[in-house]
Amino acid sequence: MKKLTWSAFVAFWASVVTLLVVGALAPPQSAHAEPPNRVVTLEELAAHATAGDCWMAIRGKVYDFSAYIPQHPTPPSVMTQWCGREATEAYDTKGYGRPHSAAADGMMDQYLVGVLVQQD
Ligand code: HEM
Repeated sequence: MKKLTWSAFVAFWASVVTLLVVGALAPPQSAHAEPPNRVVTLEELAAHATAGDCWMAIRGKVYDFSAYIPQHPTPPSVMTQWCGREATEAYDTKGYGRPHSAAADGMMDQYLVGVLVQQD
């Protein structure tokens, strides 16, 4: 019986130590894991300037709209002329002075790549 008590005692503390070690070794959880905080330079942005690889910077964030372009309700060229570029004004005016709908705004996050690097 004494042996059983001793085994239980050892097993209990072994579990406690294991939990503490696993907790200490686990990577820290960032409070801002989503959305991605990857920083993108204008140079990197400019390297994604085709319809099949189309990044745009809008309101300080960088998006990869390659997969969305075929779904956009205009001929592709309306969007693709902005690939690889800062496109806030184009997005905010649709090219003719009207803002996109809230529904369009709500679609953006799924294409987020990161944030545009702050220029001095
Ligand atoms: C930055 C370049 C872009 C330009 C120049 C542009 C321009 C346009 C134009 C001309 C229309 C059709 C006319 C109209 O509805 O008034 C339109 C509609 C639309 N666009 Fe874009 N667009 C751009 C980017 C985007 C992006 C990034 C999204 C979403 C991810 C998007 C989502 C939509 C949607 C949902 C519509 C339907 C109307 C609305 O909801 O406002 N567009 N866009």
